Amino acid sequence: MCGIVGYVGRPKSLEVLLGGLRRLEYRGYDSAGVAIITEEGDLVTRKRAGKLAVLVDDLAAEALTDGSTGIGHTRWATHGGPTDGNAHPHLSRDGKLALIHNGIIENFAELKAELLADGYTFESETDTEVAAKLLGREYEAGGGLAAALGRVVVRLEGAFTLLALHRDEPLVVVGARRNSPLVIGLGEGENFLGSDVAAFVEHTQRAVAIGQDQIVTITPDTVTVTDFFGTEVQPTEFQVSWDASAAEKGGWSSFMAKEISEQPEAVANTLRTRIHDDHVVLPDLAGLEESLVGIDRIVIIACGTASYAGMLGKYALEKWARIPVEVQLSHEFRYSEPVLSPTTLVVSISQSGETMDTLMAVKYAIEAGAKTLSICNTQGATIARESDAVIYTHAGPEVAVASTKAFVAQIAALYLFGLHLAEVRGTLSPEATKEALDELSSIPEKLEQVLLTKERIQELAKWMSDSRAVLFLGRHVGYPVALEGALKLKELAYIHAEGFAAGELKHGPIALIEPGQPVFVVVPSPRDPNSLHAKVVSNIQEIRARGARILAIAEQGDASVLPFADEVIPIPLAGALFEPLLAVVPLQIFAMELATAKGLDVDQPRNLAKSVTVE
Ligand code: M6R
Repeated sequence: MCGIVGYVGRPKSLEVLLGGLRRLEYRGYDSAGVAIITEEGDLVTRKRAGKLAVLVDDLAAEALTDGSTGIGHTRWATHGGPTDGNAHPHLSRDGKLALIHNGIIENFAELKAELLADGYTFESETDTEVAAKLLGREYEAGGGLAAALGRVVVRLEGAFTLLALHRDEPLVVVGARRNSPLVIGLGEGENFLGSDVAAFVEHTQRAVAIGQDQIVTITPDTVTVTDFFGTEVQPTEFQVSWDASAAEKGGWSSFMAKEISEQPEAVANTLRTRIHDDHVVLPDLAGLEESLVGIDRIVIIACGTASYAGMLGKYALEKWARIPVEVQLSHEFRYSEPVLSPTTLVVSISQSGETMDTLMAVKYAIEAGAKTLSICNTQGATIARESDAVIYTHAGPEVAVASTKAFVAQIAALYLFGLHLAEVRGTLSPEATKEALDELSSIPEKLEQVLLTKERIQELAKWMSDSRAVLFLGRHVGYPVALEGALKLKELAYIHAEGFAAGELKHGPIALIEPGQPVFVVVPSPRDPNSLHAKVVSNIQEIRARGARILAIAEQGDASVLPFADEVIPIPLAGALFEPLLAVVPLQIFAMELATAKGLDVDQPRNLAKSVTVE
């Protein structure tokens, strides 16, 4: 959601801002705009509804004077539709100050009423314009831009990142954040601000994450961070571990196609340096290590795809570490009055580390006295910083809205944690630990093999592109895979799709089966010790008898499904807990190819944002 870029340095703001906004496009947005202080000291702005290309074309048709200071924004509409007028930046009453915003100002109506009573008028329906007008009024009261921003933000309720500039302070950009991301990029004679490092990684890999309730002021040569009341704080610098080329398509037709292909590497990088002599080594847990022995319960919180990774984590943690685990959607968690104690470990999973629902759930857990661990793919993200410890997945930047490589990396990280916890608790023999680690280490190579099925799945997807509804079935660890397959198809191809636990079929969903209904079935290995395979094959027969078209994802060489399936997509042999890492890939490819066959944008599906930074 909303992408934010700020720049101070050389007279090339427009290039930096548009480049940054382009890299932030993946976050999802529906309008874009920039504000620049020209070398002559004028404040100029341009904003347009639609994609960034609309703004770029507009700037090509009628140039905007460039300057050394600027802010840029891509807006995901909340208050008011995606129009030119609602797009950011918004201006102060005197037109000397411009402001952009990510998040929601919950008390904007009350603040707007105050300004209206003071004679202010508004041109947009946004909460952002209220902040711009307020900041303009505070600026007039004196003390400079950063101090004025401090006086404004203490009055705001909700979540926000704000950036502002004022023509009377021509080489300054100020920013503030609460529950919404903002990162500084450190350059030579130039400095940057961004919603995430993608905004400036082509210029610098030196970054500083801004803490909760902090204000930053950047000039070409200085960076100052304070709390909301002006007391200086010392933030910590970090090195971005990937370069600009990692966030480029690199010849692939879409970021999603590239990211699906990167899954072997994503898992390998997440495991790298964390397995030594048949043990898991997680220095990442330093902040938690002493508490781990006393943990008696785990609650996993996450949203969307990350929650399905969490469901798989539950199977692994309960099996290996013999500890009760529950999985909750972050947005449901804190409203259910969960029972938490200092011996509860709350594990949050988030690719972006900025998902507002998950962040709020983590804060709730902290306040309730629970221990917190996050599994996160984005260095320095808010959720990671709030938690007692973080296990970073090293999947590299995930740009496509649909999560793919982050999902398999999350599972790998959860499994590493599960095996480590099992060792701490003494619940798994060294032989069983070694066997599991060997399985995990073999996943990257097996993923390479699954990727070879791409062309066949592409044909299948083309052939099914006019499907109206697709169902997905799985049991045990196959169930989260079914849910994920359905989610991918919904979000990318806009097709009604449902995932079910196969055992639930006879309790209702089987009524949906009619002749020709396509059903993907995730078939467990015939070697499964719990005889789940036979049960799933029975389920296949039940729906086939009612006319369903069966598309089975089954272990290589499993001849038992052949007589009943219309299509079998083979995956390499793997232990039961590890099959999901492989079985999900054909479903990702299927959703992507079907959406492509329908002519849809697979990287930025309609209505969706990569990083959901509002509740
Ligand atoms: O950044 P997060 O992992 O916290 O995001 C959670 C969900 O919003 C995300 O997984 C979403 O479901 C994806 N679009 C699914 O492809």
